[in-house]
Amino acid sequence: MPDVAALDTRPRRTTFQPFAPPLIGPEEKAELLDTLDSGWITTGPKTERFQEQVAQYVGVRCAVAVSSCTAALHLAMVAHDIGEGDEVILPTYTFASTAHVVMYQRARPVFVDSEAQTFNIDPTRLGAAVTPRTKALVIVHYAGHPCDLDAIYAIAKRHRLAVIEDAAHAIGSEYHGRKIGSFGPVTCFSFYATKNLTTGEGGMAMLNDPEMAERMRRLSMYGISDARRIWGRYAPRGSWFYDIQELGYKYNMMDIQAALGLHQLAKLEQFLQRRARFAAMYTEAFADLEEIVRPQAKPEVRSAWHLYSILLQPKRLRISRDQFIEELRTEQIGTSVLFRPLHLHSYYQKALGYPPGSFPVAESLFERTVSLPISPKMSEEDVWDVIAAVRRLVAKYRA
Ligand SMILES: Cc1ncc(COP(=O)(O)O)c(C=O)c1O
Repeated sequence: MPDVAALDTRPRRTTFQPFAPPLIGPEEKAELLDTLDSGWITTGPKTERFQEQVAQYVGVRCAVAVSSCTAALHLAMVAHDIGEGDEVILPTYTFASTAHVVMYQRARPVFVDSEAQTFNIDPTRLGAAVTPRTKALVIVHYAGHPCDLDAIYAIAKRHRLAVIEDAAHAIGSEYHGRKIGSFGPVTCFSFYATKNLTTGEGGMAMLNDPEMAERMRRLSMYGISDARRIWGRYAPRGSWFYDIQELGYKYNMMDIQAALGLHQLAKLEQFLQRRARFAAMYTEAFADLEEIVRPQAKPEVRSAWHLYSILLQPKRLRISRDQFIEELRTEQIGTSVLFRPLHLHSYYQKALGYPPGSFPVAESLFERTVSLPISPKMSEEDVWDVIAAVRRLVAKYRA
């Protein structure tokens, strides 16, 4: 236990602590300059190398680098031939992308409630959501804490459903000692600016089926036959010829992005260890606060600790969640709320019509959660500042 008295008298921060700042080092900067000077800045040799290295890290045969996790999820939908009349089960407790890609295909998202401990989709509620129209299941490893994959894949097998994993938060996470990305037919990572490994914007799909990977690669480049042709055609021995084989998209990753990704990947283990250390500091420092529920990793997982999301106990505090966030802001601490369940958003209210109250666990998590800053860019002193600010607020507003 840290020295609580010292924390309680710790002076406030004088500079703002952002919620999820990226850590970009000299290696990324040098590689970026090398790319800019190389004469080739979009999809090319560095994107290929980055794909190969991520596939090797995760332990899969194929990887398809794209412009975002949303793009990877969309291509996974197309590659599974999900279309009009199909239903896709997914958690309501997620980001827009997970359901938007189902809507892009004119299929219907069917929402499921969460487990309270992990915020992940509750496998015990999956069976009831399956209908003869259900074609796939999209799961989200919230905060980098893996879902209950044994239960989920057993249900998927029983109902013959494809499982697509939205692992936007979960590069480096493990379930029973195996990396997330190596379980199902398609897993999608995000390399967005706040993510555990960033390329600014970017994403990647992990697969073991080379045919499906080739189709996703083709779809990421307008549906053009051999996606390498698009950049290879400018090489000295390249050919101008290309053939559009199906209606694809412009979802490719640039070498500018891969230049960052190559070095972020090399540092990923170090980043994960730092995140785990900061999560452990929060967990220990809040142990005596009954006003806060702390996130806890199950014994069978390694969490990537993309987020550290606490829950406030409303009956024990004389302050709302939103006021708590505002007070933290005045303490110079940036936070976020992840997520506002999708069924509560006006677009999904109109499109799907789930009334508020439909998913009580997700709604209760949303009403009480605050995600605290966590990033390898932070120092231990930064983490102590956050801890001190949270403790001060709890002491001030204890019911
Ligand atoms: C759960 C989840 N899925 C998908 C995404 C989309 O990732 P991207 O911004 O790379 O499209 C996010 C982004 O924050 C996310 O949190």
